[in-house]
Amino acid sequence: MVAVAILAAGRGTRMKSSLPKVLHPLGAKSLVERVLDSVAEIQPRRVFVIVGYEADRVREALTAYAAQENLGYSIEFVEQTEQLGTGHAVQQLLPQLQGFDEELLVLNGDVPLLRPSTIGQLLDTHRSRGNSATILTAQLPDPTGYGRVFCGDHDQFESIIEHRDCTPEQRQNARINAGIYCFDWPKLEQVLPTLTTNNDQAEYYITDAVNYLSPVTAMDVADYQEIFGINDRVQLANAYGILQTRKREELMRAGVLLIDPASVTIDDGVTVGEETVIEPQTHLRGNTTIGENCRLGPGSLIENSTIGDGVTVMYSVVSDSTIAKDSRVGPFAHLRGHADIGAGCRIGNFVEVKQSTIGDRTNAAHLAYLGNATLAERVNIGAGTITANYDGVHKHPTMIGAGSKTGANSVLVAPITIGENVTIAAGSTITKDVEADSLAIGRARQVSRKGWKLKSAPTTSD
Ligand code: UD1
Ligand code: MG
Repeated sequence: MVAVAILAAGRGTRMKSSLPKVLHPLGAKSLVERVLDSVAEIQPRRVFVIVGYEADRVREALTAYAAQENLGYSIEFVEQTEQLGTGHAVQQLLPQLQGFDEELLVLNGDVPLLRPSTIGQLLDTHRSRGNSATILTAQLPDPTGYGRVFCGDHDQFESIIEHRDCTPEQRQNARINAGIYCFDWPKLEQVLPTLTTNNDQAEYYITDAVNYLSPVTAMDVADYQEIFGINDRVQLANAYGILQTRKREELMRAGVLLIDPASVTIDDGVTVGEETVIEPQTHLRGNTTIGENCRLGPGSLIENSTIGDGVTVMYSVVSDSTIAKDSRVGPFAHLRGHADIGAGCRIGNFVEVKQSTIGDRTNAAHLAYLGNATLAERVNIGAGTITANYDGVHKHPTMIGAGSKTGANSVLVAPITIGENVTIAAGSTITKDVEADSLAIGRARQVSRKGWKLKSAPTTSD
């Protein structure tokens, strides 16, 4: 089984950020988290992350990520205290891999779009060719900045020369080094100590190790976008665009209709059922699952939520919540912090629901706040109903039984329990529990005085 080294010790000066480059987010995950994901499929025996700049921060972030994601392997961090080049980074593994006699796959922590299948192919090529090293290459429309790879027939590797060390003629070669290699570790182990800093940057280059080994072949990646490295925020934004295109196409091929794909963003972990329609300006983030035949948007943000079949969410924000089948949400509703909406509900205009459970076929159609509430089935929440759940220190619960109705502008002062089939009169402030099958009125009685007039006509003051 293969070992993997991910080079993540560099600062990433061109990002102009105090955050280490490899921790910059690209959608829901950071650059290096994506690299960690991409190697899970080959089931590596050991995975080393070479850290240096802000090592503690990178270590902490990746330890948390590994705990949360169940990657199937554990990460071993190796510190490169001085960043003397990519070859120097790999040299840090010499003490770690003593006696190891299989392949070492080397990946850059800032190349986040690589597909797991490409890594698998690189490994297969390496094995079937009986190579000492196999190097991933690409033909780039603009190869500026990358190391150039020179090959003979049948992809037989001849040399890599860094852009800055190339002659103008050599720079014409569009075949570039992706910075991703598969090595036979016992062979690499022998040449690593012999690397020199005899180059324009006075660094130890891993590419020199490739130059010293044989046999070596190069493998071109089919889709050159996979090997884009991120060095600045322009490249970061481009990479996001590439990821989005991939995700939108995947969903459209799986039977999801995107009305205006370019205006929609969807994190890669999101799943969407067939025949769902995603309207313009809709954003699906994080750990979100959408059922079939839904209509989402226009103008909605749904994050870390589970949406059942046949649900409509229009111009609304839904986070950390669930909506069961055939419910309609919006326009302009806000569901957050575990708002769990039952089936066939209607959560309408300007309604906020926070940490509440709403039973099937319950409606809150206009202008309401439901917080820390549990509503049973078939409740009707009148316009302007508020659960007053906060006494300034603590949050308190509201319970409403099946079939109950609150009149317009009701305030339910929690903690409070309203029984089944209760009617709350409009404009009531309810501070005491209400028994089942009753009417509760909690408001000043209206007084109308027939024939009442002002005592004297008002005078204008000066
Ligand atoms: C490298 C390759 C180049 C290739 C390009 C692809 C070398 C000498 N050149 O160049 O041929 O075309 O990648 O993107 O390898 N890092 C460390 N420790 C160090 C230096 C770098 O961990 O001492 C890490 C960086 O954090 C980064 C990766 O190695 O993740 C690559 O380093 P970078 O300086 O970006 O290499 P390039 O100049 O892009
Ligand atoms: Mg460099």
